[in-house]
Amino acid sequence: MRAVATSRRTGDGLGRSLALLQAFRVEQTDPDRFYRLLAEDSADLVSSFAPLRGRNVLDVGAGPVQFAEAFQGRGANYVAVDHDEAALTRCTLPRTSAVVASGDRLPFRDACADVAFSSNVFEHVRRPERLGDELVRVTRPGGVTYVLAMPRAYVRPFQAGDIPAAGVLLAARHRTHRLSCPLLSLRYEHESAAAAEVAAAFAVPGASGAVAVQGGTIAGFLLGAPKTSPVWGSNVWVDAAGHAVAEPELVRDMYGLAAARWVQESRRAQYVLVPASDANLLSAWYRLGFGQQQAHAVRPLPDGTSAAPPTVVVRRAERSDLPALAGLEVALPRQQSLAPTFSASPVPSYEECLAGWEQDFDDPAYTTFVAELDGVVIGSSIGCSLELSGGHPPLTRPDHAGFLAFAAVVPHARGLGAGRALGEAVIAWTAQAGYHCVATDWRVTNLLSSRTWPRLGFAESFLRLHRLVGY
Ligand SMILES: CC(C)(COP(=O)(O)OP(=O)(O)OC[C@H]1O[C@@H](n2cnc3c(N)ncnc32)[C@H](O)[C@@H]1OP(=O)(O)O)[C@@H](O)C(=O)NCCC(=O)NCCS
Repeated sequence: MRAVATSRRTGDGLGRSLALLQAFRVEQTDPDRFYRLLAEDSADLVSSFAPLRGRNVLDVGAGPVQFAEAFQGRGANYVAVDHDEAALTRCTLPRTSAVVASGDRLPFRDACADVAFSSNVFEHVRRPERLGDELVRVTRPGGVTYVLAMPRAYVRPFQAGDIPAAGVLLAARHRTHRLSCPLLSLRYEHESAAAAEVAAAFAVPGASGAVAVQGGTIAGFLLGAPKTSPVWGSNVWVDAAGHAVAEPELVRDMYGLAAARWVQESRRAQYVLVPASDANLLSAWYRLGFGQQQAHAVRPLPDGTSAAPPTVVVRRAERSDLPALAGLEVALPRQQSLAPTFSASPVPSYEECLAGWEQDFDDPAYTTFVAELDGVVIGSSIGCSLELSGGHPPLTRPDHAGFLAFAAVVPHARGLGAGRALGEAVIAWTAQAGYHCVATDWRVTNLLSSRTWPRLGFAESFLRLHRLVGY
């Protein structure tokens, strides 16, 4: 390969670099200036390796129209190739030949081109090596294969000025998320509402993060902030509004920067809420050492009512049930403190629970059911508005959602249908109370709840992932 030649239009060495860099600064505001300079520079560079007049030039992933002008202006037989027909229409002149085709399978015979040219495409395709192979295949022996590629992305710390761009990315993520989870609120599809959530995440004391910049625009953001509860350890949380990316792999680049600071601040317990339907985004987080901890889930209202199994009676709780309710309240944290969940939440004593029930039983915001087997209370469940749950940040909350806030069945009565009957009682209450859907959540490592609630029609909306940076 010959040494890189210099361009007569933009000068050489530092002067050429400076001219291109200065023009790049106005790429968004004055694209014609930047792309004309780049196209002229590229065509000059190619012509320093091989004459262009009368030669076949294939421009794969055809750029703005200035490239057609630069090559046709030098007498080349310029052919624009792009997988996007609309893009081709934008980038061609009246004399330009255009071919709709994918760069990884070019519809040209071997060695047909004097020049196979590709500018700023490699960094955007999934398999750049396939594109490279195709460019070389269609170039004739002695011809020129030309590739210009920008670095894929760079990352820098998140700043307040990034909030509007982050809002655009978050709104786009939410729009895609709602295709698989339409019960989520429409509100955050709007960029201003999404940006307000990003602003709130950035306003949390101790918040910090990163953005990924690709081709001059912000292609991803990541924001984390600590929660003060001792249950979470020395932590950082990336909440539902704390990250969005144009391509999932960027999460790993941004985490590489942001987590350096988090760990320096001793925030080794790390949590992130990720849309449950985004397999590629989840995969990026898994490949950063994160695993599933908690599921948020939602289901529509039922069409009709369903009956409890004949052995189980479900009814509204009464004051006389308070001792049983207190005992059942202990059952859930006790269950979650055991293997394989190992939750760090403290297990309250029976007396503490009873005192709490004595005080709160008449609170109209909560509706409590009990299940009886042979006249003995063996389980309970609680319904309320999702707005009362502190564990569901705004983006995870459907509008007007009821909440299955609690359910437990005593160990010896599990598996008899009481859990289903208690869950369905809350779901039916939700419909009667005028809510539009029902939400709940569970620890993914709780073998009982993680197997029960999907059977009752709850579908995961968000997954909370967790990483403890250790050994
Ligand atoms: C979760 C819990 C309330 C379920 O109560 P339960 O009476 O055992 O549940 P049911 O017998 O009504 O089963 C409900 C459904 O879940 C399924 N299910 C329940 N436990 C299951 C298990 N261990 N494995 C597979 N499926 C299970 C049942 O097959 C049933 O589905 P189906 O009706 O379509 O057949 C109970 O296990 C419990 O109290 N766990 C401890 C506290 C807790 O984790 N609460 C949930 C907090 S989020």
